[in-house]
Amino acid sequence: MSTISRFITITFFTICSITCVTESIGVNWGTMASHPLPPIKVVKLLKSNNINKVKLFDAKPDVLQALSGSNVGVTVGIPNIMLRSLNSSRKAADNWLHDNVTRYVSNGGGGTRIEYVAVGDEPFLKSYGEQFHPFIIGAAMNIQAALKKAKLDNKVKVVVPCSFDSFESRSNLSSEAHFRSDINKTMIELLAFLDKHRSPFFVTISPFITFLQTKNISLDFSLFKETAHPHKLSHKTYKNSFDLSYDTVITALSTVGFPNMEIVVSKIGWPTDGAANATSNLAETFMKGLMNHLHSNLGTPLRPHQPPHETYIHSLLDEDQRSIAGGNFERHWGLFTFDGQAKYHVDLGQDSKSLVNAQDVEYLSSKWCVVNNNKDLSNATASALEACANADCTALSPGGSCFNITWPSNISYAFNSYYQQHDQKAESCNFGGLGLITTVDPSMDHCRFPIEIHTSHAEFYRVVSFQWMILLVTTLLASLGV
Ligand SMILES: *[C@@H]1O[C@H](CO)[C@@H](O)[C@H](O)[C@H]1NC(C)=O
Ligand SMILES: *[C@@H]1O[C@H](CO)[C@@H](O)[C@H](O)[C@H]1NC(C)=O
Ligand SMILES: *[C@@H]1O[C@H](CO)[C@@H](O)[C@H](O)[C@H]1NC(C)=O
Ligand SMILES: *[C@@H]1O[C@H](CO)[C@@H](O)[C@H](O)[C@H]1NC(C)=O
Ligand SMILES: *[C@@H]1O[C@H](CO)[C@@H](O)[C@H](O)[C@H]1NC(C)=O
Ligand SMILES: *[C@@H]1O[C@H](CO)[C@@H](O)[C@H](O)[C@H]1NC(C)=O
Ligand SMILES: *[C@@H]1O[C@H](CO)[C@@H](O)[C@H](O)[C@H]1NC(C)=O
Ligand SMILES: *[C@@H]1O[C@H](CO)[C@@H](O)[C@H](O)[C@H]1NC(C)=O
Ligand SMILES: *[C@@H]1O[C@H](CO)[C@@H](O)[C@H](O)[C@H]1NC(C)=O
Repeated sequence: MSTISRFITITFFTICSITCVTESIGVNWGTMASHPLPPIKVVKLLKSNNINKVKLFDAKPDVLQALSGSNVGVTVGIPNIMLRSLNSSRKAADNWLHDNVTRYVSNGGGGTRIEYVAVGDEPFLKSYGEQFHPFIIGAAMNIQAALKKAKLDNKVKVVVPCSFDSFESRSNLSSEAHFRSDINKTMIELLAFLDKHRSPFFVTISPFITFLQTKNISLDFSLFKETAHPHKLSHKTYKNSFDLSYDTVITALSTVGFPNMEIVVSKIGWPTDGAANATSNLAETFMKGLMNHLHSNLGTPLRPHQPPHETYIHSLLDEDQRSIAGGNFERHWGLFTFDGQAKYHVDLGQDSKSLVNAQDVEYLSSKWCVVNNNKDLSNATASALEACANADCTALSPGGSCFNITWPSNISYAFNSYYQQHDQKAESCNFGGLGLITTVDPSMDHCRFPIEIHTSHAEFYRVVSFQWMILLVTTLLASLGV
């Protein structure tokens, strides 16, 4: 090979290993927030960070509309509670597809680039029991049939995101894994369905939760540290938790006859609050390690040089109303805080090589609700607990960013969270006379007392952008002499 052609080849592979991986990196965009960042700002945030794929948990009209014309590849989600009706009725599936997919795809002017419909969100999660199992395959088949009818089946694929607790092994570390016996039969039907339609297997990989649950897995091993002590299993050497989990998936697939099934990592990340070791520093180390690993194109011992087809980072933004059944860290998975501000730096293929913040975020006034120290505070703890039941006090939990603030500052934290979530309405800072509104920021050290986003403007922006679009189309038609 001549020097020049070698140079070209090397350049090509270098470019490809960067751009091809960038093309296959997406994020989960959840909207379980009391004050979600307006969808139009979120789409700008995606674009300015060179994120070209997004996975949604539902099909909110304002979100799908905001993604229209953005050229971002979209996974639309069907909530688990809808699986029963989608299994029992083809008509329900046709309607669901029409209302939540077809009309956005065929929107003209580019439309919304929908690539997958996710049937359920981790419906096999162990904590759900078997309540969704009987409906998953039927719902997936009905959605597939609806896609065919709408002539979208060559563009949009049906997938079912699976939780990482879908697998079992004799020891947690074994790569001799198989599917959980209660889902084995349904899983084989699902894999046959996916295989028939050439759809990938969507699966969560969670080195953070594996670290919490497995005594024998070190933090360094979870964080892709070079110095981590490797694990040797089935004559393979594992240098990080990601590879071990990924090969667990491959092994389980192979065991039931699908060794070559394409894999999409549909959820992977590291939270930054609400638990020990959930910090921005460790999250940054994890994300950098993950990106380097994906860019290296090394693959895993069982699938060398074959990284996942796509990888979705969990998640884009923090969500203060996400269920904390799995742990207080569940509200803190974001690369960005709830208001679109980067928590740390990671290169997702941006020109700046680090995360770019959301712009022009509009906040509520600079006001906080704190406890009035001049009052008898003997009953304040009860009021704080009541506030926490409705608001978000996860930062106060052990290991959280506000765990070490002293009483009664923790009461103030709870009061403020409630006050902000209720749009700073004066009556939401009452607490039996114990609350006090202040313009002095009570934040300290690592413990931030956030001010929420002004959300009533969301509607305004939507109207303005719609009018702007009409104006654009009208001008265009006029210039064409129509
Ligand atoms: C799922 O739908 C099929 C077809 O309508 C029906 O026969 C079956 O009973 C449904 N399954 C359950 C568990 O309801
Ligand atoms: C999707 O379509 C169904 C059926 O028409 C509808 O009931 C539902 O509200 C739509 N939106 C979402 C988010 O599922
Ligand atoms: C799962 O089902 C397959 C095929 O029926 C069977 O060979 C395998 O032993 C089952 N595995 C478990 C863990 O039940
Ligand atoms: C394996 O994980 C389970 C929780 O999923 C945990 O209870 C158990 O202690 C773990 N076993 C080991 C050896 O770490
Ligand atoms: C922990 O993992 C190491 C390396 O794979 C292994 O040698 C050791 O037996 C494991 N210990 C336990 C308690 O599982
Ligand atoms: C992880 O958490 C444990 C338990 O709180 C703590 O002892 C340890 O220092 C933490 N490690 C890092 C690197 O933060
Ligand atoms: C504290 O609560 C108890 C029971 O509700 C009540 O009897 C008492 O008066 C309260 N104390 C103050 C200082 O508000
Ligand atoms: C709380 O912990 C952080 C770091 O973990 C530290 O910087 C800060 O000084 C601590 N604050 C107090 C009041 O101890
Ligand atoms: C605040 O701290 C006190 C003392 O450590 C504790 O008893 C109380 O439960 C805490 N309240 C909240 C809402 O965390």
